[in-house]
Amino acid sequence: MKNVILNNGVSMPIVGLGVFRCSQEEAYNAVKSALDIGYTHIDTAMIYENEEAVGQAIKDSKISREKLFITTKLWNEDMRKDNERKAMETSLKKLGLDYVDLYLIHWPVKEKYVKSWIEMGKIYKEGLAKSVGVSNFLIHHLEEIFKASELIPAVNQVEFHPYVVQKELTDFCKTNNIQFESWSPLGAIKNGLLDNKTILELAEKYNKTAAQIILRWNIDKGIVTIPKSSNKERQLQNISIFDFELSQDDIAKIDSLDKNERVGSHPDNFNF
Ligand code: A2P
Repeated sequence: MKNVILNNGVSMPIVGLGVFRCSQEEAYNAVKSALDIGYTHIDTAMIYENEEAVGQAIKDSKISREKLFITTKLWNEDMRKDNERKAMETSLKKLGLDYVDLYLIHWPVKEKYVKSWIEMGKIYKEGLAKSVGVSNFLIHHLEEIFKASELIPAVNQVEFHPYVVQKELTDFCKTNNIQFESWSPLGAIKNGLLDNKTILELAEKYNKTAAQIILRWNIDKGIVTIPKSSNKERQLQNISIFDFELSQDDIAKIDSLDKNERVGSHPDNFNF
């Protein structure tokens, strides 16, 4: 496993397991098997309603806390109700943890996200989260929080895969020392990404699977990635990407698949 160093010096494994759309039972089994095969980074959220299961799997793994990197996220309703601190406490309680490694604002809720960012700063100062960051923030959202606070988000977690590359946003994050993290790195399988001709040609060239090519493209670009899988073999596949490297030409080939096509909501236009 390779780690990246965040802007506050915290070390974060570049690949983790995502558990979006996992029931409690599925999340428990997925986290248990991932921790068994060497994952140390798990990404959940209050709204996934599986924090208890994630916490139980962590506890049952008996892996010492400091070896793990756990992320959860502040939900929109808690921002609307000015409930940031309480929401953090509730998530910690459900996870059975004293702190998370990363706490993210899940979506840039209009007229709330700047204020919530100030509250995230307090949570960070208290040590309830070793790092704080944002998710689904565009450049204009980041610029607003820069005006209001000196605390720069450690991470921006965004939908990112070969069909939605967002070069301007990745460049902006790099320039401002915000670690870019991709959600649904394979999510576009719904859009046929794993059957894309270019990806399949590269899979053959490097003797890897289509998923491994896409995940390697993430880490070759220095992007943290959290593929979800409930299947042990695919989990193993998704972390077995450290024994090869894509050429610059092949990275550019994947970049050129971009068609600005999301599988999730647009951060300026979500209705939840
Ligand atoms: P499964 O859980 O059955 O493995 P994302 O995290 O990008 O949203 O993608 C999640 C989807 O991709 C899930 O449907 C997951 O199914 C599937 N998936 C995860 N890893 C792989 C892989 N290595 N090959 C094919 N499909 C995968």
